[in-house]
Formats: sequence, C-alpha cells, structure tokens
Amino acid sequence: MDILCPLGACLFNSLIAFLLLMMPKMALGQFSVIGPAGSIQISLGGEAELPCYLTPPQSAQHMEVLWLQSTQVAHLYRYGEDQLGDQARDYQGRTELLRDAVTSGNITLEILNVRLLDA
Ligand SMILES: *[C@@H]1O[C@H](CO)[C@@H](O)[C@H](O)[C@H]1NC(C)=O
Repeated sequence: MDILCPLGACLFNSLIAFLLLMMPKMALGQFSVIGPAGSIQISLGGEAELPCYLTPPQSAQHMEVLWLQSTQVAHLYRYGEDQLGDQARDYQGRTELLRDAVTSGNITLEILNVRLLDA
C-alpha cells in the first residue's frame, strides 16, 4: 500500500488538528459572567452584596467591569483601578469592588447605605 501521508505532511495535519482543538480556549479566551441567581432583599440603609464571578476562574484585573443601574454607572473598574470620575453621583462613596477578589475573578459589587433607587 502507498504511503498516502509522508511524515512531514502527517505532522503538519496533526498540528493543525491540535491547533484547532486548542483554539476555542486559547484564541477566544472564552469565559462566562455569572450574576445573582435571583433577587436580593436588603433593608433600606443596609449593605447589599451583588454576587458576580467569572467562570472558568480567571483574573479580571485587566478587564473592564461595569455595573449599571439602568443607564447610570454604579461602578466602573478599568485599567486595574476604580474609575470614580465616571461614577453617577447617586453611587459616589457607596460602592466597592473587593480588590483581592478581582484577581480571582470575583467581581461582586458591594453597595453601602442601600436606597430605593438601587432597586
Ligand atoms: C466573592 O466575594 C464576596 C465578597 O468577599 C464573597 O462573599 C463571595 O463568597 C465570593 N464569591 C466567590 C464565588 O468566591
């Protein structure tokens, strides 16, 4: 029987197959953002934790994380820092992303002194 695939070509073909197998994870860097499963009830004036994390777990340190309330920016994290200048007045001094958690893909937002407008 003839050798249909000389060694060089076989190697090349299997490299392509290998690259294609690797691509979904490597090139696209796919991940999901998982938010709260249901509604969260907090008393007025209390502290709310809105759970959110990346899966598979990975650092969000170099990502842009934007929490919106309707069209208002409740919290913006970009270039490794909170961008407080872009935050809506209603949320100034009331939000927090826990920095240690961001590096493990936990982008849970904490809202202090919960108001009706947070609903
Ligand atoms: C994310 O961080 C919050 C606040 O520290 C914590 O309560 C929560 O359990 C963490 N979630 C995950 C999935 O690690």
